Amino acid sequence: KVIYVLNGPNLNLLGKREPEIYGSRTLDDVRLLCEAEAGKSGLQVVFHQSNAEHELIGWVHEARETAQGLIINPAAYTHTSIALLDALSACSFPVIEVHISNIHKRESFRHHSYVSARADAVIAGCGVDGYQLAMQHMATLISAS
Ligand code: DQA
Repeated sequence: KVIYVLNGPNLNLLGKREPEIYGSRTLDDVRLLCEAEAGKSGLQVVFHQSNAEHELIGWVHEARETAQGLIINPAAYTHTSIALLDALSACSFPVIEVHISNIHKRESFRHHSYVSARADAVIAGCGVDGYQLAMQHMATLISAS
C-alpha cells in the first residue's frame, strides 16, 4: 500500500529556516523518518515538497488514483487554501494533517486550518517526530479499514 507525504511552501528550507521553531532536522531527514516508519508496516512512501499550490493539488489528485492514505503538512497553505481542502475532500482515504510547530501557540492567523475540516487526525507541536506519529497512526487506520 502507498502513502503520499506532501509538504507545502518553505519546507524545503527545513533545518535552516527558523530552527528555534522548526528544529535542525532537514526535509531529507523527514523523508527517511517516514520511510523507516512506513517500512515497519510494509507501506510504501511517495514523498514530495512544493512551494506551488497547484503542484500540491496535482499530487493530491494523483494520490486519489494511486494511494491508500495521505499525510500532509500544508505549511502556510493550511491557513489560506480552500482549493487544497477541496482537493482533499475529493479523496476517500485517510488524511492526516501534520504541523511541526504547535500552530495554536503561535500568531492568531495560524490558529485556523482549512485542511482540518477534512483531516481525520491532526498532529501539531511534536516537531518532525509528528510525521512519524502520523505514519504510525496511518498504519493503524489502514489496517482497520
Ligand atoms: C507549519 C506551520 C505553518 O503555520 C507555517 O506556515 C509553516 C509550517 C508547521 O509545520 O509548523 O510553514 O505548517
